[in-house]
Amino acid sequence: MYAIEWAWQIASDCYSERSGDAVSTTTDVLKEAKNRRTFAIISHPDAGKTTLTEKFLLYAGAVQEAGAVHARDNRRSSTSDWMDIEKQRGISISSAVMQFPYRGHMFNLLDTPGHKDFSEDTYRVLAAVDAVIMVLDTAKGIEAQTLKLFQVCKARRLPVLTFLNKFDRPGRDPLELLDEIEQKIGLRPTPAVWPVGIPGDFRGVIDRRNGDYIRFTRTSGGSSAAPEELIDATRAAQEEGPSWTAALDNCALLDAIGANVELKSFLAGITTPVFVGSALTNFGVRMLLDAAVDLAPAPAPRVDDSGAERALESDFSAFVFKVQANMDPNHRDRLAFARVCSGHFERAMDVSCARTGRTVGTKYATTAFGSDRETIEDAYPGDIIGLVNATGLQIGDTLYAGPRVAYPPLPRFAPEVFAIARPLDMGRFKQFRRGLAQLDEEGVVQVLRDLDVAEADPVLAAVGALQIEVFAYRLAHEFNAPVDMQYATYQAIRVTDNKSIDRLRHIGGIRILRRGDGALVALFENRYRLQRLEKDEPELTLIPILADTDPS
Ligand code: G4P
Repeated sequence: MYAIEWAWQIASDCYSERSGDAVSTTTDVLKEAKNRRTFAIISHPDAGKTTLTEKFLLYAGAVQEAGAVHARDNRRSSTSDWMDIEKQRGISISSAVMQFPYRGHMFNLLDTPGHKDFSEDTYRVLAAVDAVIMVLDTAKGIEAQTLKLFQVCKARRLPVLTFLNKFDRPGRDPLELLDEIEQKIGLRPTPAVWPVGIPGDFRGVIDRRNGDYIRFTRTSGGSSAAPEELIDATRAAQEEGPSWTAALDNCALLDAIGANVELKSFLAGITTPVFVGSALTNFGVRMLLDAAVDLAPAPAPRVDDSGAERALESDFSAFVFKVQANMDPNHRDRLAFARVCSGHFERAMDVSCARTGRTVGTKYATTAFGSDRETIEDAYPGDIIGLVNATGLQIGDTLYAGPRVAYPPLPRFAPEVFAIARPLDMGRFKQFRRGLAQLDEEGVVQVLRDLDVAEADPVLAAVGALQIEVFAYRLAHEFNAPVDMQYATYQAIRVTDNKSIDRLRHIGGIRILRRGDGALVALFENRYRLQRLEKDEPELTLIPILADTDPS
């Protein structure tokens, strides 16, 4: 996991070369926006996200030799204690962003946590990107743990490019994988390329868009770009023999069923262009990056909460999609990550928060490359800015310059796991309370409090148990307030209102609590009781919270 941190740093060096002369005319904003590609890579842990990220940097010229990123793993690991849990569990929690130029375009690549328990986090990151690269391990396909993340992605209707990775070693039949993508996620795969050779004996790809055969050659350890050779059909038939014939047969089959790359349905999140390759040996990496430039969309106007589209060239606006404190013990502070939606951001400019109406300081705007920070001077639609110690900012907040604008709130997910938290040492209650407030604001878990006794043991609500573990870990390590955690067996949660709570309080097996955003929620020990109540007393307000796989 630390490898990705180095990737951020290397990209950050690259970023700083770019910044400089500030421009702010309408034409410039539109030009800059048009050149942005803002992406997230989602994958199951170990499918190759870090390796692919590193290879993107190699192809973009941001590193001279791949391996530099991985090789620095160990040096890095000692500087960030908060990520111990990521290392222990082999998961990525602290999503960050990196930026690098490629073919005259500026890429913003956002990291996502690779575990279903963090699907709410993933959802927020996905709200900040314009497209997604879904990386699958060819030998494994879609793994149960990650299915939810992919479904979240589909539900956002984001354009998805699929990369079947690790084709250099034995794996499953790609046709079978395509079927799995369609069946499990509901995205229609449209292979942009088709492999020549089977997994484990992978020679190259046919570009189905123009019929070219591109043969790859390995370089030692995949440390430099894989040489590509364009080979005509006659020579391919002679040199690749049965592998060539089999690939042509499969291409004919795909043609027959009309599984061709189609821009409109890709942009609508209905089809997914599929690329095949091996991040380790660099096979297919360039084609994937090129597709990100050629197929993926540039930032488009966002719809505000009045339903109007805010033009890209309007005054500056952005929304906060992530808040994170204590990412690095050297900077025990709080970062709010905001995605620019319109206008030109200049450091130290005056911006306001739409929820509070207060001015937000932007003097300490940084790039958000893991724990290594660098001041950012300006940013355009699609870019991510990190605001240091912008206290008072919450996830979902809109920032704006000029006339007020607000973007719709980010949806909350229905929690499925509940636990009651108590400080192990009552002498550290103050630290416990502070940690609770901070981690609630960051959205690590939802903290539900008693209506009458605010200080009573709070109920923590989460999409997955790992969130609760992260919460306990961070309370103990960052706030020095170890907690005792008792899992509670609530089966359902509903948002309710003041009018309904008098009645609900008189029914057994229901607990009424208040969420951090002020909403009243009812927790049900028994799902059937809830169903009965919904049927018998329809006048009660019992609103389901968004189901994560269907946020529409
Ligand atoms: P992640 O970020 O998605 O968790 O995955 P990561 O890139 O760290 O890759 C997980 C493992 O899979 C790594 O091996 C990596 O080298 C390997 N890998 C990634 N892409 C490919 C590929 O295209 N082909 C093959 N054969 N392997 C690939 P590791 O042994 O865990 O780590 P390392 O010692 O190689 O760094």
